[in-house]
Amino acid sequence: MSMIPSGNTAKVTVPELLQRKSDAANYQKKKITSLTAYDYPTARLADDAGVDVVLVGDSVAMVALGYESTLPLTLEEALHHTRAVRRGVKRALLVADMPFGTYHGDANEALRNAVRFVKEAGAEAVKVEGGERRLEVIARLVEAEIPVMGHVGLTPQSVHAIGGYRVQGKTASASEQLLRDARAVEAAGAFAIVLEGIPRELAAEITRSVRIPTIGIGAGPDCDGQILVLHDMIGMTFQAPPKFARRYANVGEAISQAVREYCADVQNGNFPSDAESYHRARVLKLEEELKVNTDCDW
Ligand code: KIV
Repeated sequence: MSMIPSGNTAKVTVPELLQRKSDAANYQKKKITSLTAYDYPTARLADDAGVDVVLVGDSVAMVALGYESTLPLTLEEALHHTRAVRRGVKRALLVADMPFGTYHGDANEALRNAVRFVKEAGAEAVKVEGGERRLEVIARLVEAEIPVMGHVGLTPQSVHAIGGYRVQGKTASASEQLLRDARAVEAAGAFAIVLEGIPRELAAEITRSVRIPTIGIGAGPDCDGQILVLHDMIGMTFQAPPKFARRYANVGEAISQAVREYCADVQNGNFPSDAESYHRARVLKLEEELKVNTDCDW
């Protein structure tokens, strides 16, 4: 049974997302929902619950692999996680984040790397960080029929260049630059753009200024959609969540509690119980009745 709230099981596609933006300008505003996933179970749960876009974010580096930043993530690691997510996603659009260094040089090299996400890992689109500077790369991928999601504002791959994870676009000149960046991403042919860590007024202005959907994270409510890191919203991280990440569950605490109870049960002999154990006589009887060998069915 589908758990999709709207009951809409139709596959989410790039043209449909673009259509939603133009429909929104008329009357039918329907926000785009997006979450990250890095593995099969979370991807499947998010997809079954009806999220529109699943992003295999390079945040996997920090959230699931324990790196200090997103920068060390390799192409092979990102492909590995994208393949796992692919197996769990049916309806949502699957977007793979290109790791730092895989699209920063020659546009042809960026294309070769992006092709691997589509061909080897089943991604339907890729995401790259940066605005005007990425014009050529985005255009090259789009020309090769690979849909591209842009990402401007607080771009975590620029952490050293911007001196930390700070809200961007606070001054008038920084806002103007971000507006130019967003327009450049659109002009290069991207189908959507993530706006991260910028004042809500600027996000609203960018959203009004581009024809492609904006997907906000820490960018206020006026974007065409929202994205969160799944682990932030379910309480599966080890630091306080950012201001913008609403916590919908505390899965980390549920896991810790389950592990504590399991350890206690093992220590005090409460686990496994008799009902959780096999009995030689019963198994042999069952085999006899069914004329099968239950070796594989235990
Ligand atoms: O890597 C990531 O999770 C992202 C989102 C926060 C947009 O880029």
